[in-house]
Amino acid sequence: MAKAKTVYVCQECGGISNKWQGKCTHCGAWNTLQETMEQPVPAAGANRFSHLASSAPVRMLSDIEVRETPRQPTGLAEFDRVLGGGLVPGSVVLIGGDPGIGKSTLLLQALAMLSQAVPVLYVTGEESAEQVALRAQRLDLDASNVKLLAEIQLETIQRALQEEKPQVAVIDSIQTLFSGALSAAPGSVSQVRECAAQLTRLAKQTGVSIVMIGHVTKDGTLAGPRVLEHIVDTVLYFEGEHHSSYRLIRAFKNRFGAVNELGVFAMTDKGLKGVNNPSALFLSQHAANVPGTCVMATQEGSRPLLVEIQALVDTAHVPNPRRLSLGLDGGRLAMLLAVLNRHAQVATFDQDVFVNAVGGVRITETASDLAVLLAIISSLRNKPLPQGLLVFGEVGLAGEIRPATRGQERLKEAAKLGFSIALIPKHNAPRQAIEGLEIWPVSRLDEVLQFIK
Ligand code: TYD
Ligand code: MG
Repeated sequence: MAKAKTVYVCQECGGISNKWQGKCTHCGAWNTLQETMEQPVPAAGANRFSHLASSAPVRMLSDIEVRETPRQPTGLAEFDRVLGGGLVPGSVVLIGGDPGIGKSTLLLQALAMLSQAVPVLYVTGEESAEQVALRAQRLDLDASNVKLLAEIQLETIQRALQEEKPQVAVIDSIQTLFSGALSAAPGSVSQVRECAAQLTRLAKQTGVSIVMIGHVTKDGTLAGPRVLEHIVDTVLYFEGEHHSSYRLIRAFKNRFGAVNELGVFAMTDKGLKGVNNPSALFLSQHAANVPGTCVMATQEGSRPLLVEIQALVDTAHVPNPRRLSLGLDGGRLAMLLAVLNRHAQVATFDQDVFVNAVGGVRITETASDLAVLLAIISSLRNKPLPQGLLVFGEVGLAGEIRPATRGQERLKEAAKLGFSIALIPKHNAPRQAIEGLEIWPVSRLDEVLQFIK
């Protein structure tokens, strides 16, 4: 057998270096290399193509029979929505989120529902069996059919999966597992990667759907190497502020569904409850309009969502004014302020600018630009925007207002919720009037300022 060799593995990207360095040569991250024993490669007659020995014949794509992907609905409609309809047999889902955000709760609820229909197994490496049982009791779940295994050794878990033959298994969490084949500590890149890869292989072989819980690092990415995201079929992220009672699940990657779907849950003492109609959730219900707020219609997957954007612009007392954005892209804020200065002659160089999307929601689409700018203008002038105003639209560097996708749906939702004016890109203006909604179409930033006096 080949001698085990020491290598240095980057904890960020999984890149391998032969000697220790301060900076990873693969991803450029600092202080991320960790000493790891490299697994000896099986020597016997192996060449780099030996894993292809039993190669499948080449076929015409059109000859391959396509069947509808069967799915197992979890019984939690909002969770199914992000999964693309339910769990696909043999698929592996990775679900990440801050500690305490509700990952274990959600998956225990899902397993309790699933256990009514199919055999399930909950593998806990973080909490004891008693703690999980206590949680099930507290949440009033019917967990009589849920099988539980408190274990962190990969080989034991693999054996249990093969013996128990569950159709759905939850691993809570992937960072606690360790494989006896590696000497590295649990939670290290090589362990996490190896355990995830082994479990994925097992899922593909046996058809069990595996949901792995993963921890996130300070900056919100999944701990462990990026490689993990490539191994699994679906990556979901839990979002939400700790003090807010809403939780969002967003698909980041999904081989079996759309990636921009959003599941919305409300936290209760009986666990997470799906919110079927979340469009008005992220509005902060002021009695009258206040300066520095602007409501936008964003489109998350198949549903429009109305979100209030808030801005606070205040005189800066330091040479470098602060720019801070929560729930919105920070780099984009700087760009929008430059566009505002150039194309609308509104200067903010001596002002601190803070923007926030209400309710802990994160907005990734550029159609929020117009709402951000209007909230900033409103705060700067200390003057509320017109009552019942809704906006959306991207702002370009040349001061042009670009259309957003699915404008009609956003407008209809706004009208339904009682908004009366829509300041929107000209290309999104509806051909037929929408009842109760006055349309202010704009194609350039200076036109916007004519409407907002
Ligand atoms: P938990 O599921 O343990 O979070 P994670 O696995 O992501 O670390 O949830 C954290 C705590 O919040 C736990 O004590 C239970 C509580 N909780 C509720 O009471 N109701 C809920 O709806 C949720 C999601 C959590
Ligand atoms: Mg947990």
